[in-house]
Amino acid sequence: MKKSKITKNLCDVENWLYSDIVKDHFFNPRNILLDEADYVADGVGIVGSPACGDMMVVWIRIDKKTKKISECKWRTFGCASAIASTSMMSVMATENGGMTLARAKKLTPESIIERLSGLPDRKYHCSVLGQNALREAVLDYENGS
Ligand code: FES
Repeated sequence: MKKSKITKNLCDVENWLYSDIVKDHFFNPRNILLDEADYVADGVGIVGSPACGDMMVVWIRIDKKTKKISECKWRTFGCASAIASTSMMSVMATENGGMTLARAKKLTPESIIERLSGLPDRKYHCSVLGQNALREAVLDYENGS
């Protein structure tokens, strides 16, 4: 029996478009928060819309002494690229003692994509979701709400 073109493309792992790092963060997402009921955050950022499916929530905790991000949790209804991008973003925000708030607000999708060893061009917007939600969470913390 002959495979349809669509089935062949879906199963064509040799032509997989994603890097090993993207695959790792998609299958083993870091810092994901599945139940926020008991989680006390210092700032929360929400971007996107549940109506169109691309929604992202980021929760941050700030180290009161260093004023750096000590925890960065997230949850999304976005695609695999959004999951991998935000997982990497959460690692970048908290590694090496945590990111300063100024640096977190200037984090770019390009820097996340670079750490992922690339994303297909049409998936660029997926990496913007987590980065924007992180900025919103920092602004939420700074505004004291
Ligand atoms: Fe919309 Fe990735 S988040 S396609």
